[in-house]
Amino acid sequence: MHYPKELVELVKLRSQGMKLEGLNEGAGPINPKLMIVGEAPGKNEIIDNIPFNGDAGRELIKSLASIGLTRKDVYITSAVRSRPYSIKKVFSKRENKQVIKYPNRKPTKKEILAHAPFLDYEIRMVHPKLIVAVGNTGLERLLGKGKISEVHGEVIEDTPILQLNKSQDSYTWSKEHYTIFPQYHPAAIFYNRKLTDSIEKDWQVIKPYLNSSSMVKYK
Ligand code: URA
Repeated sequence: MHYPKELVELVKLRSQGMKLEGLNEGAGPINPKLMIVGEAPGKNEIIDNIPFNGDAGRELIKSLASIGLTRKDVYITSAVRSRPYSIKKVFSKRENKQVIKYPNRKPTKKEILAHAPFLDYEIRMVHPKLIVAVGNTGLERLLGKGKISEVHGEVIEDTPILQLNKSQDSYTWSKEHYTIFPQYHPAAIFYNRKLTDSIEKDWQVIKPYLNSSSMVKYK
């Protein structure tokens, strides 16, 4: 999705001085079967401008296939749309000298708040009937709290989500209610292979929700 110029300018202003690189737009259809909300793009995503286009993305696409979906059926985005990086001096054996590296890192709360206008805009435009929060960052951005290890695989129905408040310096609850499905981040298995079975099972829980009509309620 191409974000409007004013929105990009607004987020740039809000993120001034933060160690964030590039912009990777969320992608997918309007009225998707589901929306994925991850953490933040990494290097691959910033180069190609395709969300979840690296190793984690390959795992995500496998999970989607297990419930009969492809990338084209879903809208994919995350709490932050630029790559959070840190600056590290390391010794390179190959070059036999100190070099500076810029590895990916988890976004801070301030960075997530700075980028909140993007996710708010996407949710407004896309009308997701089901939102799959992959990982703690996506879940916290939507519901303010929650640990994936405790709530993964549980469908949270009819809930408001967090969006920027009027003064754009904090969050408030949305009037619209959504169905949220917390799920492990697809990269979680790279650190803990034992999660593979649990992740596979959790995705199957979503299946019955895919064909119901709108899951956005207006109170
Ligand atoms: N992790 C995310 O949360 N989003 C991406 O696009 C890639 C990795």
